[in-house]
Amino acid sequence: MIISIILSYLFVAFFLLVVVAFLLINLFFKEDIEVVFERDPAARSRLEVILTYPGLHAIVLYRLAHYLYRKNVPLLPRFISHLSRFLTGIEIHPAARIGKRFFIDHGMGIVIGETTVIGDNVSLYQGVTLGGTGKEKGKRHPTIGNNVVVSAGAKILGNITIGDNVNIGANAVVIRSVPSNCTVVGVPGRMAKKEGKRIPGINLDHTNLPDPLTERLERLQREIDLVEKHLEEWKEKEKEKKGG
Ligand SMILES: CC(C)(COP(=O)(O)OP(=O)(O)OC[C@H]1O[C@@H](n2cnc3c(N)ncnc32)[C@H](O)[C@@H]1OP(=O)(O)O)[C@@H](O)C(=O)NCCC(=O)NCCS
Repeated sequence: MIISIILSYLFVAFFLLVVVAFLLINLFFKEDIEVVFERDPAARSRLEVILTYPGLHAIVLYRLAHYLYRKNVPLLPRFISHLSRFLTGIEIHPAARIGKRFFIDHGMGIVIGETTVIGDNVSLYQGVTLGGTGKEKGKRHPTIGNNVVVSAGAKILGNITIGDNVNIGANAVVIRSVPSNCTVVGVPGRMAKKEGKRIPGINLDHTNLPDPLTERLERLQREIDLVEKHLEEWKEKEKEKKGG
């Protein structure tokens, strides 16, 4: 009897918490919700987005942690960041600076380092790392411009700058700065498009790689054929001389 009363109180408390969270998020994070509808065709209702989008949860908790961090509150910002990582699989350091209309799709496995700076209208997919390259101190994480898309699994490493309107391809590893208006793909990241125009790169047709041994044997065979042909011609000439 007592257990069922406790459970019903817990249920009511949880329900109230969800309602309050819904109202607060709806009130204070309008832009972060709208951006989900813009960039994810699967989003149906505000309630669904608020309840089931880990990217939104991570951004809400990051904005809270960042606010407290800037007020010099000790420990709590890191604890909120840790809680957020536990709940969403997305780790954002409270000191990172993130602009407006930031969108994280799916989310799991994202890491955003302490000195990262992110502009407005940026989208990240699952598995993205905005990280450092070693144990150096100071600014050691990337600076990302406006309107940038970082695709699933991409890593952007070190104190480098990614310009505005850049697309980083899935699984790219970017270790050098990238100018605005381009697409970067591969490992290490290379520019595949600039101002909408394709840039011819190295041949990545790995299924049709040349076989150097066969090529060498074929060349030898061709040379042997040539020598035999010259020998035959020489023999013919010798015969003609003797006959004449
Ligand atoms: C990079 C990307 C955004 C496309 O950008 P784009 O500007 O339209 O570029 P294109 O598709 O015209 O490709 C340009 C070149 O890069 C190559 N390329 C594209 N994506 C690539 C990738 N991830 N890795 C390696 N090469 C890639 C293309 O083959 C093409 O090469 P080519 O010029 O030799 O033919 C896209 O390919 C990508 O990676 N999307 C991933 C999106 C994602 O993470 N989705 C997850 C949803 S859950």
